[in-house]
Amino acid sequence: MTLSLREMAVEVLTTADGRAKTALSHSLARAWFAARKAGAPLPIGRADPPLRPARPAKPDLLDPRDVPRRRPGSPAGRIALLHAIAHIELNAVDLHWDMVARFPDHDMPLGFFDDWVKAADEESKHFNLVCDCLERLGSHYGALPAHAGMWRAAEDTVDDILGRLAVVPMVLEARGLDVTPGMIEIFERAGDDAAVAALKTIYAEEVGHVAYGSKWFNFLCGRQGLDPQPVFLDLVRRYFHGPLKPPFNEEKRAQAGLPPDFYWPLTEPAE
Ligand SMILES: [Fe+2]
Ligand SMILES: [Fe+2]
Repeated sequence: MTLSLREMAVEVLTTADGRAKTALSHSLARAWFAARKAGAPLPIGRADPPLRPARPAKPDLLDPRDVPRRRPGSPAGRIALLHAIAHIELNAVDLHWDMVARFPDHDMPLGFFDDWVKAADEESKHFNLVCDCLERLGSHYGALPAHAGMWRAAEDTVDDILGRLAVVPMVLEARGLDVTPGMIEIFERAGDDAAVAALKTIYAEEVGHVAYGSKWFNFLCGRQGLDPQPVFLDLVRRYFHGPLKPPFNEEKRAQAGLPPDFYWPLTEPAE
């Protein structure tokens, strides 16, 4: 029996080990796109994704306030930074498969699934690239504690697809566009060419993920006759806790279909 796309997405979500999760994610993406190319897409189906994805026993997950800070200029600081990025990428793999599996009542076009399967496939590559960098430096994913809060946006938006699109790709992943150039500089200064190459790949591909968010957010607003900008501001204020922090990467945000009136008004706390 062929599993549906959503059932296979749940298999990724319920796989705990990072390397195993991302290997399954790659093979699922290959199966999806091979079937698409053959003109016989896999059934989307229905599934029951877990509220929280399976995770390895390590890293320990701590409250963000308790995660030790290290100076990024030191070797230990660079390992800590790569470890934090690996954790973000692993969460992103699950976030995109969760987007595929989660919202069965919205009858989305196949292009929606193409985009999130591709994004999940890319996040899987990102996780492995960053893990390779950590291992080259004598560390590994799981060696340090990581933030516990990263799945909160997903839990808060389990029954709100517009809220999910607003907060995950259009706020959290867009933030990645703002901060990645600074991280690339840190590794350039340290002469870590492999980390620079990994971060440049991530930086280039993340523009696409933000663009998918913006595309499908606008699609759903259009279908429901909603004005996207005020709806977006309302959803971010409801689900994202705290103001957005400039400086923004206005050029990459524009390239991803995120105009300034989708973020500048959110730098002020709501009245
Ligand atoms: Fe990524
Ligand atoms: Fe991403």
